[in-house]
Amino acid sequence: AKDVVYNFNVSWVTANPDGLADRKVIGINGAWPLPVINVDKGDQLIVHMYNGLGDKNTSIHFHGMYQNGTNDMDGPSMATQCPIPPGSSFTYNFTVNQNGTYWYHCHTDWCYPDGYRQALVVHDSDAYFAGEIEDEFTVTMTDWYHTLAEDIKPEFMSLYNPTGAEPIPNAFLFNDTLDTSLAVKPNKTYMLRLINTGAFVAQYFYIEDHEFTIVEIDGVYTEPTTADILYLGIAQRYSVLVKTKDTATKNYAIVTMADSTLLDTIPSDLRLNLTNWLEYDASASHPEADITVSVSSDLDPFDDSTLVPYDHMPLLTDPVVSINVAVVMANLDNGEGYAFLNNISYTAPKVPTLYTVLSAGDLATNALVYGEFTHSHVLPHNGVVEIILNNNDTGSHPFHLHGHNFQVLQRYPSYGADFFDYASGDPHNYNAATNGTSGFPTYPARRDTLVLPPGGYFVIRFVADNPGVWLFHCHIDWHLMQGLAMTMVEAPDQMQQRLTIPDDHYAACKAAGVKTEGN
Ligand code: C2O
Repeated sequence: AKDVVYNFNVSWVTANPDGLADRKVIGINGAWPLPVINVDKGDQLIVHMYNGLGDKNTSIHFHGMYQNGTNDMDGPSMATQCPIPPGSSFTYNFTVNQNGTYWYHCHTDWCYPDGYRQALVVHDSDAYFAGEIEDEFTVTMTDWYHTLAEDIKPEFMSLYNPTGAEPIPNAFLFNDTLDTSLAVKPNKTYMLRLINTGAFVAQYFYIEDHEFTIVEIDGVYTEPTTADILYLGIAQRYSVLVKTKDTATKNYAIVTMADSTLLDTIPSDLRLNLTNWLEYDASASHPEADITVSVSSDLDPFDDSTLVPYDHMPLLTDPVVSINVAVVMANLDNGEGYAFLNNISYTAPKVPTLYTVLSAGDLATNALVYGEFTHSHVLPHNGVVEIILNNNDTGSHPFHLHGHNFQVLQRYPSYGADFFDYASGDPHNYNAATNGTSGFPTYPARRDTLVLPPGGYFVIRFVADNPGVWLFHCHIDWHLMQGLAMTMVEAPDQMQQRLTIPDDHYAACKAAGVKTEGN
C-alpha cells in the first residue's frame, strides 16, 4: 500500500468535446477532460482540492467508495460536509479497501453536469480474471449540455416547467469526445471498464459482432456471464472481457445508444447513437455502425439482477428495518414540478447531517433531530435493512446508496420487452403478501446503483455495518436537485465514538457561512 496524492486546482476552462459549441466546463489544473484516478486496493488516496471557480461551491464524492470509518470524506454537501466555497481548500484522505470500477464527481447542487466527473479505477492484479487480460480500457459515456447547469436551473425549477420535464442534452459523448478507437490485437482478451458519467440519460452499449463476458458490476466481481447488450443507468459500471477475433482485417463499431424513452422531446439534430471502434487495423476502414433498431427500447439488454456475485454471499434474511417508499413526481402548491419519496421532497439541512449526529448526544437516535425534510432513517448497527422502492412515475430512475452495495432481491418488471412499456399501465406496487419472498435469489446480485423500472418496483437489502450518514437518491442529477433523496443515519452512537472531523472541514463551513460546533 502506498499514498496516492492528487492536487486538484479546480477552475473554469473552455471545452468543445462534441465539436458543436464552446462552453465553460469545470477543469482540474487548467485541463478538461479530468484526470482518471488510479489506485490499488489498500492505498491511501489523498486529494487536496482548491476551489478556484470564483463563483461556485464544490465538493467531491468518490462514487462507490464505502468510506468505512471515514464518513466525513464521502463528499455530499450538507450530508457529510459543507460545500467548499470559492477560495477555500479541503482535503479528502481515505484508505481504498475495495477493488473495481468507480468514478468521482462533484456532489454539490448544479455542479457535476458542468463536467466535474471522471473515472476512478482500483486496479487488482489478483482479480480472478487478471491472468487472461492483455490490456484494459476505461470507457465513459455521458450526455452533454451546452448550457451551464446554473443557467438551466431557473426555468427547470419553475412554474414554467410544471411537469418537471428534464433538460434535453445537446449531445452524447464517449470518453468525453467523439470518434474514439480502442486499439486491439487479434486473439487476445481485453477488459473494458464502462461507466455512465451522465447527468440524465441511460445508455445501451454493444460491440458489433462481438459478445462479452461480464466480470464486475459497481465494484462487485460476478461469476463470468456472457452478454451482448448492456444497459447502463446513470452512475452504473460494468467491467466486461472482450475476446478479439483471430484475424485483424477490419474494425468493428462500438455502439452506444441513448435511452430515448427518457427524453420528452427529441430534437432532430440530436444524435442518439455514437459509433466508436474496436480497432484491429488502423489503416482499414472505420465503418459507421449499422443500426438495426428504430428505437432504443427495441434493444434487449442483459438483466443485471440475474448476475451472481463471485463471492456467493447468501441472501440477507430477517430485516430489522424495512423502509417502504414510492417515487412521486408531482407539483408543489405553486405549480412547480418536484420529486418526492412518499410525501417528502429532500431539502438540504442548515448544518450537515453528519455534524448534527456528532453534536446531538443521545438525541442522535431520534430521526426528528435531523429535520423532516432530510427524510432521515436511523439504522441500528449491524442490522439488516430492506428498502422497498415503488415507482409511481412513468420514468425509470437509477437509485444509488452511498457507503454500501446492496443485494437485489426482486425487481418488476424485468429488463426486456415490458420494462419500458410498463409505464402505460397502472403503477404496480410491491406487496410482500402477494409478490412473495420465495422468488428471492440464493446469491442475489449486488451493486450500488440500480435502475427502478417505470411503474414498477425493486426490493434491496444491506447490512448496516458502516456507521455514517449515507444518502439514498436518484442519480439523475436533475431529480436529485428536485429532491429525490433520503438520508440513512447508520449507527449514530458508533459515529459519535469513532469519528473526528479534520479542522479544514470545519474551516470550509465557516467560509461557507455555516455555523457548526467546530467553528
Ligand atoms: Cu454518485 Cu450521491 O452519488
